[in-house]
Amino acid sequence: MVRSASAHLQLLASDIEPALLAPGTKDRVFGQYASDLRDALRKWDVGADCAHQSEALTVVANACEACHRDYR
Ligand code: HEC
Repeated sequence: MVRSASAHLQLLASDIEPALLAPGTKDRVFGQYASDLRDALRKWDVGADCAHQSEALTVVANACEACHRDYR
C-alpha cells in the first residue's frame, strides 16, 4: 500500500512540468519546486518506522504547499 503510494507519487512528480506548464514553457522557479518535490519523495523511506515516515511526509507536504502558494 505505502510502497505503491510512494511509487505513484514519484511517477506523477516526474511528469509535473509537462502536465501543468503550457507546452514549450520553461519556468525556473516552477521547475525548482517540482525538483524539490521529487527530492522529498526520494527521501521517503517506506520501510522506515512511523516517526520517520511522518517526518518525511511533512517534507513532501511542504513541497506541495510551496508550489501551490505561488502557482495554484
Ligand atoms: C511544481 C508545482 C506543484 C507541486 C510541487 C505540486 N502541485 Fe499540486 N498543483 C499545482 C498547480 C499549478 C495546480 C493547479 C492546476 C490547475 O488549476 O490547472 C495544482 C493543483 C493541485 C490539485 C487540484 C485541486 C485544486 O485545489 O486545484 C491537487 C489535489 C494537488 N495539486 C495536489 C498536490 C499534491 C498532493 C502535491 C504534492 C505531492 C502537489 N499537488 C504538488 C502545482 C504543483
